[in-house]
Amino acid sequence: MAIDYQERIPNNVDLASNRTLQRALEHWQPRFLDWWRDMGPTDFQSSEVYLRTAISVDRKGWASFGHVKMPDYRWGIFLAEPTPDRTIGFGDEMGKAAWQQVPGEHRSTLRRLIVTQGDTEPASVEQQRLLGLTAPSLYDLRGLFQVNVEEGRHLWAMVYLLHAHFGRDGRDEAEELLVRHSGDADRPRILGTFNEPISDWLSFFMFTFFTDRDGKYQLMSLAESAFDPLARTCQFMLTEEAHHMFIGHTGLARITKRTVEVMTELRTDDPAAVRAAGAIDLPTIQKYINFWFSSAVDLFGSEASSNAASYFASGVKGRPNEANYADHMALDQSFTLDRPDGRGGVAREDIPLRNALNETIRLAYIEECQTFMERWNHTIAEAGVDFRYRLPSSRFNRNIGVWAGAKTDLDGKPVSGETWAAHATDWLPTEADRAFVHSLMRPVIEPGKMAAWIAPPERGINDQAVDYEYVRLA
Ligand SMILES: [Fe+2]
Ligand SMILES: [Fe+2]
Repeated sequence: MAIDYQERIPNNVDLASNRTLQRALEHWQPRFLDWWRDMGPTDFQSSEVYLRTAISVDRKGWASFGHVKMPDYRWGIFLAEPTPDRTIGFGDEMGKAAWQQVPGEHRSTLRRLIVTQGDTEPASVEQQRLLGLTAPSLYDLRGLFQVNVEEGRHLWAMVYLLHAHFGRDGRDEAEELLVRHSGDADRPRILGTFNEPISDWLSFFMFTFFTDRDGKYQLMSLAESAFDPLARTCQFMLTEEAHHMFIGHTGLARITKRTVEVMTELRTDDPAAVRAAGAIDLPTIQKYINFWFSSAVDLFGSEASSNAASYFASGVKGRPNEANYADHMALDQSFTLDRPDGRGGVAREDIPLRNALNETIRLAYIEECQTFMERWNHTIAEAGVDFRYRLPSSRFNRNIGVWAGAKTDLDGKPVSGETWAAHATDWLPTEADRAFVHSLMRPVIEPGKMAAWIAPPERGINDQAVDYEYVRLA
């Protein structure tokens, strides 16, 4: 059956006149839809969801709202508008023309970066596929599905690059992106974190706050790439990504608000009493923060990385907001790095700044997380409750980098195995904590109603009321 691709796949890459690309996508699109049906959200495929669809990149077109069934969502292909005569903004190739085609010497590196980024997008949809069954409100159910369809579009964005610029290899990689599955014993997703199911909404909001924000920093680094089509693709993805982090931030703010409301009503700071009232106690939320923060900071990679240095040198991948730096070469500076000394202490060493780029980007990320967390703390303080959230040290509970496997306390101070064992249940969610959070997960599907553990949002989506019918259940 002939498909009108201009209509079916909104795009600004002139798909209609590119026969090769069209043919590749004609082959891939039905497989994507099969994947969506098999691995995407369960049970809601015939419900009508109030979704934002990008139909162009200008102000008006990238956010058009309406009720659609998810399989009918129009996954499009968009690149930010080109910068005329764009040049490379950093590294050894600084000032030369940006690449419109993939240079042979960077082909495999670029392909790997695109595939790794692309793999996380469908992975998160797979991780979240059961969450719709326990949504705390229709507003939140819509938020989940908005994130899911856009992660699907981000997969399209990466598949477009693979199809358009990497020939046969790229088409094979695009197939593989639909074959690997989150948590699959034989064909797992590439990055470890993306193989853990997300089965409760506290984790979903943590994921969209911490993990999607890592995604934002990765996209910002790729948005600086000398490979112009990649840079422009990532620039547009960032506009959508912002909403995912909004969902995470406001979700956690609303949970916090509800918890301190319950504490105020009951005049208690006893976590057991808060739980008995059907809200999530602050110490449990803190443990989830410790867990999700440490898993997200791992995603930035090792503190000392020769890969990061060579990506920067060659122009393949830069630093977020490179234009804000005074020195785009990063050649003569060094960075002081702390690492475990193997004797229970900390050793200091100076490494070239280019090798420390993962760490400098991670530090910017941590600062941003901290800023948002202070808003939640403000809510707690206003209620007169004596508790503050804090981010653990980035050394805590790491699996990647120089602190991988090291036992430290929340301040990053190395501790013995015994001390760790004695405190781990205070620092990270226990089975009992997870079981409690799970016990709260009951669907609330009446428009405007909220589960007891989360406050309503301050306003609805796209100027609609909070009690708008965001999802018309089939
Ligand atoms: Fe994404
Ligand atoms: Fe996202």
